[in-house]
Amino acid sequence: MSVDLLLGLQWGDEGKGKIVDVLTKDYDIIARFQGGPNAGHTLKFDGISHVLHTIPSGIFHPSALNIIGNGVVIDPVIFKGELDKLAPFNIDFAKKLFVSKKAHLILPTHRLLDAASEAAKGKAKIGSTLKGIGPTYMDKTGRNGIRVGDILLSDWKLRYEALRDKHLKMLSHYESQIDFDLASLEATFFESLETLKELPLIDSEDFLHTAQREQKKILAEGAQGSLLDVDFGTYPFVTSSTTTAAGACTGLGIAPNTVGEVYGIFKAYTTRVGSGPFPTELFDEDGETMGRVGQEFGATTGRARRCGWIDLVALKYAIRVNGVTQLMMMKGDVLSGFETIKVCTAYATAEGEIEHFPFSIEPENVSPVYIELPGWEEDLTQLTAEDQFPASFSAYIAYLEKELETPIKIVSVGPDRKQTIFR
Ligand code: IMP
Repeated sequence: MSVDLLLGLQWGDEGKGKIVDVLTKDYDIIARFQGGPNAGHTLKFDGISHVLHTIPSGIFHPSALNIIGNGVVIDPVIFKGELDKLAPFNIDFAKKLFVSKKAHLILPTHRLLDAASEAAKGKAKIGSTLKGIGPTYMDKTGRNGIRVGDILLSDWKLRYEALRDKHLKMLSHYESQIDFDLASLEATFFESLETLKELPLIDSEDFLHTAQREQKKILAEGAQGSLLDVDFGTYPFVTSSTTTAAGACTGLGIAPNTVGEVYGIFKAYTTRVGSGPFPTELFDEDGETMGRVGQEFGATTGRARRCGWIDLVALKYAIRVNGVTQLMMMKGDVLSGFETIKVCTAYATAEGEIEHFPFSIEPENVSPVYIELPGWEEDLTQLTAEDQFPASFSAYIAYLEKELETPIKIVSVGPDRKQTIFR
């Protein structure tokens, strides 16, 4: 049985949590394949709003199993906090939530290194969520990391101490020192590991291969977005994992030829949180309106997101890199009331207009070329079917589908599960 993928096509925060939650009823297994607690997936249903960071967004459905794959990095302290917040839902985690033994652990000192590294960068800082993501993936690829399975080994404490001491040495080399209370951080860390140990720790690739043979339906849930991919994103203003389709293969152990549908999620406009280039960013009232109406504040850090018009150069790039087969458009409702909607169709460069995503999209290298489409006045949040769409909204969707050469199968008109229109 093939595995379907669900990926964000912009700079994250496209609404992946909501869509996984909506789609979960059609799947037996939901598997996270990369990232860690830097992600914040918001789910709204039955008047409840819930943010997940490491736990897959299928956790609220009664029958779906949830896997945290080998490509994910786990902070046991944040993870325990997530489990604690789910207590009112009476979920049997031992039966529903499985963790790969090959997933890497975020140690307290990884977070300290993240903070020290960002502080040292000054104006060039990435705007990291400071969850220790970069240093943990560095230790993974540097072959120094500690994996979930290691905590079951008799010499695990020695391994931990060796890596911690290395980190402390590294920290001492930074010019500006950060304050921390290691004993207290370690106490919480070790206590949280006990909670992690209560869950089924598994060889997740084998679990998934068996599930595939048994014809189980599997959805791989991405975190962040394609433009934050460590290879294809706006480097160095990216995260440290492969957020694109290839990351689902390396982060779960599924073979490329077993990938089925690739669902790509995008907002009807664009947002970015943290530093880095953003050609269609708005610094005027329009951007402010998008942020206010769309409640564009980070689910993990609470930071205000930068807002701007949709960028088709970047979206086409993301669709190609991922092999997207179906699109899902989020937050069209936020654009109600704009007289005209701008769409970036190309970048102007010193060499003329280009339509591909180049090496650098810094403002000194590219500026957006726009076309304008008529806007719509109507409130979309109460709509339940496509035939109720205002004509200009339908025209916007039709234009995007034509340009992106990919069908838009879901249109979301609000944060609730119910505000989802299938086409
Ligand atoms: P890090 O992955 O926390 O180190 O952050 C690196 C960059 O990716 C920063 O610009 C973050 O704001 C951004 N980022 C990381 N995770 C997310 C996310 O889930 N949504 C949006 N941006 C993110």
